[in-house]
Amino acid sequence: MVTATSPYQGYVYAYPHKTAYRPLDPRPPLRRVWEGEPMDSLSLYLHIPFCEMRCGFCNLFTRTGAPDELVAAYLDALERQAGAVREALDAALDSASGAAPGAPGGAPGGPVFAVAAVGGGTPTYLSAAELTRLFDLAERTMGVDLRTVPLSVETSPATATADRLAVLAERGTTRISIGVQSFIDAEARAAVRPQRRAEVEAALGRIREAGFETLNLDLIYGIDGQDARSWRHSLDAALAWKPEEIYLYPLYVRPLTGLGRRARDWDDHRLGLYRRGRDHLLAAGYEQVSMRMFRLPDPARTAAPAHTTGYCCQSDGMVGLGCGARSYTSALHYSHEYAVGTRQVRAIIDDYVRLAPGDFTAANVGFRLGDDERRRRHLIQSLLQAEGLDPAAYRARFGTEATADFGSEFDRLAARGWLETDAGWPRLTAEGLAHSDAIGPALFSGAVRELMAGYEAR
Ligand SMILES: C[S@@+](CC[C@H](N)C(=O)[O-])C[C@H]1O[C@@H](n2cnc3c(N)ncnc32)[C@H](O)[C@@H]1O
Ligand code: SF4
Repeated sequence: MVTATSPYQGYVYAYPHKTAYRPLDPRPPLRRVWEGEPMDSLSLYLHIPFCEMRCGFCNLFTRTGAPDELVAAYLDALERQAGAVREALDAALDSASGAAPGAPGGAPGGPVFAVAAVGGGTPTYLSAAELTRLFDLAERTMGVDLRTVPLSVETSPATATADRLAVLAERGTTRISIGVQSFIDAEARAAVRPQRRAEVEAALGRIREAGFETLNLDLIYGIDGQDARSWRHSLDAALAWKPEEIYLYPLYVRPLTGLGRRARDWDDHRLGLYRRGRDHLLAAGYEQVSMRMFRLPDPARTAAPAHTTGYCCQSDGMVGLGCGARSYTSALHYSHEYAVGTRQVRAIIDDYVRLAPGDFTAANVGFRLGDDERRRRHLIQSLLQAEGLDPAAYRARFGTEATADFGSEFDRLAARGWLETDAGWPRLTAEGLAHSDAIGPALFSGAVRELMAGYEAR
């Protein structure tokens, strides 16, 4: 474990990774999958797999140039899926005892959603009228009271138009997240992300005018031609907007030119830019939440659990709707099919829009989590946050000590100077956080690693 040399093995935003999912045979009915699961604090995730451009670095489940008819057909299918899933959740609740009927954030007697997010792709590829339809579906069919729960929506500079932002604000969006990547046009071009700074600035102006509680801005480091100076320039341009959150992403697609031929040079370059970026944001008063995430301290923010802050889709109890969306229960993570290649993504979306309500009542592909994997998931997801692993929370959840279950992992990380334990509370050091993308994958179980290695990319 932790023998990898590159600090950039992979971004662990969820465990297990989707490439560890396999077809479920027989396909378990959702009403059984959700039976006995707590349903008083669920998260809802809606996936919109459309973009106006395909950026060179992006491997998310999305396609470009979707015609209006396809978008309309997609929303139709989403509605059929929402109806089928809501029915399954209700049936699961009916057959279980101890449900929490009528709690805030949900329809009386139904599942209660405590947080919602719309991601992609680019959700604002949808028109204002289509976004209205999407929110109606979340409220009427899923029973989410969008105005009372944190609601996060992703957008892009070209699609963050005033009419769409007005719909988002009016329907209760609390957090808006925009991909900027770089404030330098030549760098945006080098990342195959055709956009102009003027367009980015105008979009940020419209977002601030619409008045969302939290603005998040994504930046990327490691772009061809980017250096310490130009990185600082982008960071300062971002800071001028005083965004409540900033995400710094290392680029994962290696530039074809520059930096010589050695992978090591690129690693060192990215690590150098990361450190500069981190230090610059810390000096500007931001706090580091994880390797990628920085936020302005908010005295009004009480110690809210990560899954209620609107950016995190990683907790148990997540209902994902749409093509490419994952859903989590404590025992099963599942989704529809998954692909990245342009042709396959298009084919999967084309299939999805033809599905009948009955096709949405069972899980297709997934991963079953036993107690060991649940512990490991908890370990990975806590340790990769700057806050570290709360030993009492771990004990309360699993009835054992994290230090007993993962003692050898902690020892190896500590030996590299990547982990320190303070009064029994393990957390990554600054260097550990810098190496999150090596530490995360190194903590995967053998079984997950094997499944991921056996996954045939489509
Ligand atoms: C769904 S997009 C954000 C919203 C919108 N689609 C946009 O691009 O403006 C998610 C973010 O993930 C980051 N990202 C995706 N793939 C990446 C990669 N391979 N390397 C670095 N960052 C990546 C980008 O910063 C991007 O803004
Ligand atoms: S970065 Fe955003 S706009 Fe670009 S392809 Fe990915 S999801 Fe689409």
